[in-house]
Amino acid sequence: MTARNLFLLPGDGIGPEAMGEVRKIIAYMNEAMNAGFVTDEGLVGGCAYDAHGAAISEADMRKALAADAVLFGAVGGPKWDSVPYEVRPEAGLLRLRKDLQLFANLRPAICYPALAAASSLKPELVEGLDILIIRELTGGVYFGEPKEIIDLGNGQKRGIDTQVYDTYEIERIAGVAFEMARTRQNRVCSMEKRNVMKSGVLWNQVVTETHKAKYSDVQLEHMLADAGGMQLVRQPKQFDVIVTDNLFGDLLSDCAAMLTGSLGMLPSASLGAADARGRRKAMYEPVHGSAPDIAGQGVANPIACLMSFAMLLRYSFDLGAEAGRLERAIAAVLEQGYRTADIAQPGDAKVSTSGMGDAILEQLDRSLA
Ligand code: IPM
Ligand code: MG
Repeated sequence: MTARNLFLLPGDGIGPEAMGEVRKIIAYMNEAMNAGFVTDEGLVGGCAYDAHGAAISEADMRKALAADAVLFGAVGGPKWDSVPYEVRPEAGLLRLRKDLQLFANLRPAICYPALAAASSLKPELVEGLDILIIRELTGGVYFGEPKEIIDLGNGQKRGIDTQVYDTYEIERIAGVAFEMARTRQNRVCSMEKRNVMKSGVLWNQVVTETHKAKYSDVQLEHMLADAGGMQLVRQPKQFDVIVTDNLFGDLLSDCAAMLTGSLGMLPSASLGAADARGRRKAMYEPVHGSAPDIAGQGVANPIACLMSFAMLLRYSFDLGAEAGRLERAIAAVLEQGYRTADIAQPGDAKVSTSGMGDAILEQLDRSLA
């Protein structure tokens, strides 16, 4: 059997702790089902800056480009607040997305019944929630040029970011959204600000045309992104797939994550275009950040990272059955009452990061027996 090459980038803060629990699952799958995962590991973010003076080294970039899939932890922390902008921890993440051309970011927000009470919304609004946010990831204001602060010479400065989208970028992300919708409830809601932004006008047009040309079997709706944010907290279950740009997707996916009870629950997959053999470059990462306030204490929730690994199994290696088994093991452990601090209610017994990881691994093992 050919090796499955994984490149692990645990990063900063709680990244390494969460990644440690994924490593247990990888070792288990290699042993129990001869999965053939071969892992290599690199540095990204603040730890890479400390070691190399860059948010990711060229050698690690090459490894990321060569791997079958990259699994990313988290980057950043107060320690690096004052490093130059070009080498700040986040620059490593943005470079990976851009150089690997990972234009499609899939962020599912699923609310487990066992966690409905942990949401800031009423349980009945979020119980059974299953939405998929598809965020464009390599364009828009994150990467548009010019991007600078200029001196106006009169004691004033001007900060400039540029929101820019070309037809092909909107077409391909819309295509991903429609394809995904067909595997779910067949509904897409596209969000932009066509009432104030030219890029929003074009976004709306191209999504509409793409739909008409190739995906008219899918139900399409358009919403202004601000109204979309409001609807997400008003009645989140009305959505199936949401497709939106890089910046709106960043904001809306954090909101959606919180609906599920905790940012510690939300995984993501960032995918490139399929090559001739149907393979895509891909990186998987939890949506939560590095959480420096709880880093190193062994209390972080590893579920988002484990769910990201499940997405890796599904999208990079066609191991959908194994992914489903891992996801069900996670749901079962939550059902049994295991809670890390972030998802615990007052009075709940709390487990550590490794306590949660071990419980999930045991459950997974039981499901195979
Ligand atoms: C995310 C994060 C990143 C982003 C940061 C860390 C650069 O918030 O993945 O949502 O803004 O894209
Ligand atoms: Mg974000």
